[in-house]
Amino acid sequence: MNGLIETLRQAVGANHVLVDGDLSAWEQDWRKRARGKALAVVRPGTTEEVAQVVRACAAAATPIVPQGGNTGMVVGSTPDDSGRAVVLNLTRMNRVRAVDAANLTITVDAGCVLQTVQEAAEAAGYLFPLSLAAEGSCTIGGNLATNAGGTQVVRYGNARELCLGLEVVTAQGEVWDGLSGLRKDNTGYDLRDLFIGSEGTLGVITAATMKLYPLPRATLTAWAAVPSMDAALALLGLAHRHLGAGLTGFEVMGQFALGLVVKHMPQLRVPFQQESAWCVLLENADQESEEHARAQFERLLEAALEDGCATDAVVAENIAQARALWHVRENIPLAQAEEGLNIKHDISIPVSRIPDFCAETDALLKREIAGVRLVNFGHLGDGNLHYNVQAPEEDDMQAFLREHEERVNALVFDQVRKFGGSISAEHGIGTLKVGKLPHYKSPVALKMMRAVKDALDPQGIMNPGKVLLP
Ligand code: FAD
Ligand code: MLT
Ligand code: ZN
Repeated sequence: MNGLIETLRQAVGANHVLVDGDLSAWEQDWRKRARGKALAVVRPGTTEEVAQVVRACAAAATPIVPQGGNTGMVVGSTPDDSGRAVVLNLTRMNRVRAVDAANLTITVDAGCVLQTVQEAAEAAGYLFPLSLAAEGSCTIGGNLATNAGGTQVVRYGNARELCLGLEVVTAQGEVWDGLSGLRKDNTGYDLRDLFIGSEGTLGVITAATMKLYPLPRATLTAWAAVPSMDAALALLGLAHRHLGAGLTGFEVMGQFALGLVVKHMPQLRVPFQQESAWCVLLENADQESEEHARAQFERLLEAALEDGCATDAVVAENIAQARALWHVRENIPLAQAEEGLNIKHDISIPVSRIPDFCAETDALLKREIAGVRLVNFGHLGDGNLHYNVQAPEEDDMQAFLREHEERVNALVFDQVRKFGGSISAEHGIGTLKVGKLPHYKSPVALKMMRAVKDALDPQGIMNPGKVLLP
């Protein structure tokens, strides 16, 4: 292995091959669910350096774990504890390569932090709409490798819908330049779409060409108290009707989830938390004017109050107030982490079936596990819930996970299947759900996935143990 380390040092520079000292930032996942051990952490600065690293690892049959900001939720970007894998961290590759205003595209290195991409787009007078609470540290490569969702999907789609082209280093260390920026290209299989959502198991994304949009003239945020999930769904219907394509965000938050924010971030003001079972955050991005957006919002909320699907509502008066409301929503995962380890789910269900799913599954879990606490929030506009399960307050979290995680997952995922949903809407499979996939994906789909994996990575060196078991 010394020979490999030496080759890696020659490829990227000795300073960028880390083998000693505290490597926990690269070896441990964000949620602290697992701590692995890397042979080395390698930090290339260019696509050619990535290709050299992959070729060296392939020659030594050494596993590679691609890593961006390491904010993933499913233990996908950290190594196992064998000490055999090279962690290939892309964050030194952080250049904005080009903005093509006429084509409405931006081309960036894969290690660019999402917020940097948003800021570069805005500086050029455009919107890059992908947005999530980890945007200050997650990378565009990680966003694409997980097909991240976030809070603007109801209008702009997932990371996949925002991507027009990729540059990829294959598992053999060849460079595929697919940065076409074309909106139409029917010349055979869509290779770009294979790599999006592949969680580092097929190759290394080194750059991407992403779509830009005109900046809205006005973006307004509202917060509504809703008495039930049925009411939240009725409000969503009204929002679609009143706002049309202006509806850019529709987030639902349960009372207990917001209570964790109140408990752990007491400086934040959380409207209607005490008196309402659910709250909804809505965003309206308008191409006409602020007056127009405000009038639309007022008509929508009046209709909602009249209908009874909202019992109270506020519209942010200015950007600071809007940011404060979004800040509450974005702090839920952090408040939940403060509360302790938990069982996290990112399920999707056809929107129309969500109220019945919640009613049945809440009752089932509470019956099976006494004192269990449900931390429920998410992207209702996309049919995607973070249906999370926290131990009873007095329980030891580790012991709770050991005793109940398998059972809780089986209960929730069986319900997801019954209601025609998916066990992962946005975080992916990683290692946490790798044992579950064979139970919830069809054998035909799994066979095709295996064929793709074997064709593109015949040695099985790309992120082994993630998504598909050997
Ligand atoms: P990493 O965590 O480093 O990697 C994630 C996966 O992608 C791993 O399998 C890794 O091997 C692979 N990978 C990373 N870079 C590359 C590359 N260049 N080439 C090939 N494979 C690669 N996710 C959502 O979808 N929606 C949300 O709303 C959301 N909110 C979040 C909020 C918080 C507070 C946190 C901590 C996370 C959130 N996430 C969310 C999860 C996470 O941020 C996203 O999945 C993000 O897209 C991961 O980016 P990353 O750069 O951190 O990737
Ligand atoms: C979110 O929507 O906040 C994220 O997906 C993170 C989480 O589920 O905790
Ligand atoms: Zn989410």
